[in-house]
Amino acid sequence: MVTCYDTWSAKIINDSAIDCILIGDSASMVMHGHPSTVHAHVDMMSAHVQAVSRGAPNKFLIGDIPFLAHRKGFEPLMNTVEILMKAGANSVKLEGARGHLEEISHIVESGVPVMGHLGLTPQSVNQLGGFKVQGKGEETARQIFEDAKALEQAGCFSMVLECIPAPLALEITDALSIPTIGIGSGPDTSGQVLVLQDMLGMDPGFQPKFVRRYLDGYQLIKDAVNHFDADVKAGNFPVKKESFV
Ligand code: KIV
Repeated sequence: MVTCYDTWSAKIINDSAIDCILIGDSASMVMHGHPSTVHAHVDMMSAHVQAVSRGAPNKFLIGDIPFLAHRKGFEPLMNTVEILMKAGANSVKLEGARGHLEEISHIVESGVPVMGHLGLTPQSVNQLGGFKVQGKGEETARQIFEDAKALEQAGCFSMVLECIPAPLALEITDALSIPTIGIGSGPDTSGQVLVLQDMLGMDPGFQPKFVRRYLDGYQLIKDAVNHFDADVKAGNFPVKKESFV
């Protein structure tokens, strides 16, 4: 799985072997420059889901429920689910378990697949004290394990395990019958997810331990833009075959 927020990159992923696309609320950081995902909102997520669904009609799309939208009662939550599904999502993802397990079951019983998200849940960054590995201690590891079981019980079809120790991710994956998708949680989850811009090396200042860069996208794009600039300033662009006569 990779994240995606826009049509042009969705078209590329649509033609790739990637199984599914997460329209993550990380859009608020990657695409809008906010310091956290707390700034994502339903309209923002809906616009990104629409853009991706136009570019990737052949992929399974997971739309992220933004900050607090699942904590304000059933009606606002179900309105959010409806907006994301009508925007083109095939399922929704929401963070955490405690306090909204009934809501998750209600979404599932309404015919909408739900992906869970445990460990480092970025919407809780202010409570977690930063973007830190979770579940290192015995007590927090046990809580995450129990939450994973509860999410499966509530009807989730899969769950993201973000930044937890690899042995805990393995233990959870072994204990569940639904697939786990890891990010920063070692090699033993059922699948893996990365933020597209991270794996493409679009931000040279952002290199967390768990990201592998498959491209130096920042440098390649900068070089291409500078090449265009140099060609124009040298009078090398456009030439005759690039002009109408
Ligand atoms: O919003 C997001 O991109 C995510 C992934 C990091 C799993 O939730």
